[in-house]
Amino acid sequence: MREFLSSNIFKTISEVAEIEGVDVYVIGGFVRDIFLHRKSKDIDIVVVGSGIDFARQVAKHLRSKQVSYFKNFGTAQLKHNEWDIEFVGARKESYRLDSRKPIVENGTLEDDQKRRDFTINALALSLNKSNFGELLDPFNGLNDLKQGIIRTPLEPTTTFSDDPLRMLRAIRFATQLNFSIEDKSLAAIEQMANRLTIVSVERIMDEINKMMMADIPSTGWLLLDNTGLLPYILPELSAMKGVENRNGIMHKDNFYHTLQVLDNLATKSDDLWLRWAALLHDIGKPKTKKFIPGQGWTFHGHDFLGAKMIPEVFRKHKLPLNEKMKFVQKMVLLHLRPITLSQEEVTDSAIRRLLFDAGDDINSLMTLCEADITSKNDMTVKKHLSNFRIVRKKLKEIEEKDAIRNFQPPISGQLIMDTFGLSPCKEIGIIKNRIKDAILDGEIRNDFNEAYSLMLKTAEELGLKPTKPIG
Ligand code: CTP
Repeated sequence: MREFLSSNIFKTISEVAEIEGVDVYVIGGFVRDIFLHRKSKDIDIVVVGSGIDFARQVAKHLRSKQVSYFKNFGTAQLKHNEWDIEFVGARKESYRLDSRKPIVENGTLEDDQKRRDFTINALALSLNKSNFGELLDPFNGLNDLKQGIIRTPLEPTTTFSDDPLRMLRAIRFATQLNFSIEDKSLAAIEQMANRLTIVSVERIMDEINKMMMADIPSTGWLLLDNTGLLPYILPELSAMKGVENRNGIMHKDNFYHTLQVLDNLATKSDDLWLRWAALLHDIGKPKTKKFIPGQGWTFHGHDFLGAKMIPEVFRKHKLPLNEKMKFVQKMVLLHLRPITLSQEEVTDSAIRRLLFDAGDDINSLMTLCEADITSKNDMTVKKHLSNFRIVRKKLKEIEEKDAIRNFQPPISGQLIMDTFGLSPCKEIGIIKNRIKDAILDGEIRNDFNEAYSLMLKTAEELGLKPTKPIG
């Protein structure tokens, strides 16, 4: 273990521990990640004594000013080179990150380890001179790590009562690490699911976003569903569950379809927000579902309704309300366009319109749409994918020819006003739209002179006369 503690920061901490005469350990995620061969820059240090006093000494030793103290929580945070180090005194009572009450009762290292979330997160390495690098593992966390098991150090109900977020963390770690949750812990999650309501949305979404970045994110969503946590996290997704049968005609279960799309997408993209778009692309379906005799189940307009729902979903779940939300909204709105295109004869004009609407996000949209093909019939999948290849090729050709992606209208509103002596009025919009449509439909090229001529022609039709010599 010593080689993983070769950085100077551990030497310094060890020296200060010797001078101060306290026992100090590195614990939690950093130790777990050593065994998982994952690099971590976050170091959690447990001090048998005061975490704050010890951090003060370390900061002094390092001549560091980048240190903050959180007296209420008995913790301190120090940034040094690439490291982000948190110091905490060993505690006997519950380990609550969100507790408003100060935690006062000091304890031994083992007291502290047993109040942690999982055995794999309770591993500690000594930084004391006498046994530097020794692993302290009273709950067989190393064995669980090798076996791929998420287990709580105490009775699961006790560990989860200390902080109900841990129920979600169990699922997040299981998904991220491809581990399984031991039966007793799983049963406790089912039993205590409603306790998640006391946890802040921000903490929940932090875990969900980590889960979403796993190789197979559906694992987590299925576990959330099976344990009953899903309705407390994303009821919009629960609403997509189920199949209805009318006269023997069924539609597909949109929940499972969505998860399949998400997993498909996860093999193609590491973009968290594109993954969110995959998760939410069909949220408009439950509310637009209709059975039309002779036609079957339809979800007309679910793209529009879904896009309309996105800002509220983001607001409610405290996801960012900036361009990330707009991106997801755009993906949801446009997710049917490429597939419709690939089923029809692909005209240049339809391609230009798609490029115009998707702009720089066209590749993300195509990736989402390819992931959205989940038919059980291999032939259908192959056919769609090959049609998509044609669409992609066309997109490239048209983009090279017409530069529609970052379309800037060649004629500005100002030029129209100056030419015809107008103040702002609806005719300006009519002329601009006419020019835009003509370019997208391929009637004229994306070129100033051609657009200028069309401006004159349209204005004449509207009964406008130039007040300036035409040039
Ligand atoms: N911890 C806990 N209960 C929580 C959160 C954290 O017991 N609800 C403990 C665990 O020992 C955990 C450590 O605090 O290992 C650090 O937590 P955190 O930084 O949130 O997670 P990591 O385990 O480091 O994992 P990751 O880096 O993947 O978030």
